[in-house]
Parts: sequence; structure tokens; C-alpha cells
Amino acid sequence: MTHIILDTDPGIDDALAILLAAASPEIVLDGVIAVHGNVSTEQTTKNARSVLELAGLGHVPVFRGCDLPLVKESLLSPETHGNQGLGYAQLPEPATQPKAGHGSDFLIEQIMSRPGEVTLVAIGPLTNIALAIRKEPRVVQNVKEVFIMGGAIQHPGNTTAQAEFNTFVDPHAAHIVFHSGMPMVLTPLDVTYQCIFTKDDLNRLLKIDSPITKFIADSTRFYMEFHDEYQSIEGCVINDPLTLALTYMPEICDYQRLAVDVDISTGVGLGNTFADFYNYEKKKPNMKVAMGVRPRLFMELFLERMETLARQFS
Ligand code: BDR
Ligand code: CA
Repeated sequence: MTHIILDTDPGIDDALAILLAAASPEIVLDGVIAVHGNVSTEQTTKNARSVLELAGLGHVPVFRGCDLPLVKESLLSPETHGNQGLGYAQLPEPATQPKAGHGSDFLIEQIMSRPGEVTLVAIGPLTNIALAIRKEPRVVQNVKEVFIMGGAIQHPGNTTAQAEFNTFVDPHAAHIVFHSGMPMVLTPLDVTYQCIFTKDDLNRLLKIDSPITKFIADSTRFYMEFHDEYQSIEGCVINDPLTLALTYMPEICDYQRLAVDVDISTGVGLGNTFADFYNYEKKKPNMKVAMGVRPRLFMELFLERMETLARQFS
């Protein structure tokens, strides 16, 4: 069993990643840390708790993390995820409270008390992770592995022409993490944009009458409208659950070991991620990057697991 801490900014696809975690017996979710990103940290903390409770994971501790990027001004994305972050879904107020203390301190405490055992899944801007590295640099040697949703290597950006949202929102944090020496697996838009959740997929799930399928329908309807209006995509791209799935089903993707960097200069390239494919700079690869994907393998896994979870609550 893989012990996971999830750093997240729910966010519609973040919420789907939490549901997938609940439906994955291969993993134990030891804690959730909320970060700014799709909506404010106050809202992502609340959303994380509501979605965990929806999925029967109300016992999982939730910690609040950073409210702002390290250097840049805040950027939220209500047009993509809605003002409350979960599209048209309205979940009840969470019954549980967030835990006291900062998420970055929880992360440090967990990694340092169980060296080599904690896998970190980071599916929002990397601010909390960068802060943890600066506060306690030994987390780099003691974390088992870090799975990151972020970047657009050879794919257009989804926030600027070439920058992906998580790396654009806090490029300085991404820079710290990418150059930290942690064992990393990156899931960039190159693979996530091939995994589209369609209306047919939704209709398949809606055959089960359950609060889980209702939530998926209400949240993804907003996300699908965004993808249609802004990117002419039918359906919606579910980036974050793909990253979580790779922790236990790595064969969904093909990987390359690459030297990846992120632009932190002030200019049109801010937040762009790029890989030195021909190794011009003679740098050692700093991460494994998912550059190929078997979309149906992932989508079938996701749909089957959502069906199983939905049946538990029908
Ligand atoms: C990433 O940005 C957010 O909008 C999503 O939740 C995902 O983590 C995709 O670029
Ligand atoms: Ca996210």
C-alpha cells in the first residue's frame, strides 16, 4: 500500500482525484493539504473537506496551506472551475474542521517521521512543497516519490500560450521543486489533454443514482462548458486524477527521463516549462516525465472506480 499525502486546490479535477483516491484500495490517504490556485485557500480547504466527506473519507486530516504564490500576485480561475471551485455542484457545509497548523509543517512532520515511506501527490501550484523544502531541506532525501501535475512540455499552454496553470500561478515554487533533487514524476498537459471525460462517460456513470454521480455531473457540466467555450473541446480534460492513478498504475503512461526547467524571468515566457531533449546543456535529468499515455486504459480505470464508489453510496 502506498501512503499518500495529497497537496491540492479543489478545483473540479482535484475533486475527481479525491474521489479516485477514495476508490483506490492500493493507496492510503494520510492527509490532504490545501493550496491557493483554482480558488482561494479558504475555499480549497473547505472544498477538500466537503469532497472527502462525500467520498466517506471524513476522517482524513485536512490542513490549510499557503494563501499566495511565493513571489507573484495571486491568480485564481473562476472561469474554469466556478466561483466556489466545484462548478455547479453544491455540497453541504463540511462537518469536520481543518487541523491546526500549516500544511507545509504537516508535510515536513510526515516525511521526516517516516523516511522513505511518504509519497506526495501535488496537483495544484507547488507553493506548499517549495516552502517545506526551504523550511526543512532534508525532506528532499526523505520523501519516497513526488507525483506532480503541471507543465506543458511540447503542448500549448492552458493559461498563457505556452504555460500550464499550476506552473504559471507559482513558477518560483515550481523552480524550487524542480531543482530540489526530489525523485519526481511529472504529468504535463502533453498527456492529460489526451484524457477527455465525455458526455458519454458521464451518461454511463449516471446510470447509477448516487450522490457521487450527481456531484460528478454537476461539477463537470461547468467544466465541459468551459472547455467548449475556451478550447473547443467536447468534454473536459481531467488532469489531476491521472496524476494520482500513476502512483499505482504507472503503465498508463510512457516516460522519459529529462532535464526540465521552468521560466522565472519576467517576460512572455513566465511559467513556461521546457525539456532539454537533445541534452544541449549536459545536465542530468531531474525528473521522469509522462510523455505518452494510453487514454482508454486510464479512462476505463477512472470510470470503473467511480461506478464502484457510486454504488457504495447509492
Ligand atoms: C491544472 O490546473 C488546474 O486548473 C487543474 O486543477 C489542474 O491541476 C491543469 O493545468
Ligand atoms: Ca489542481
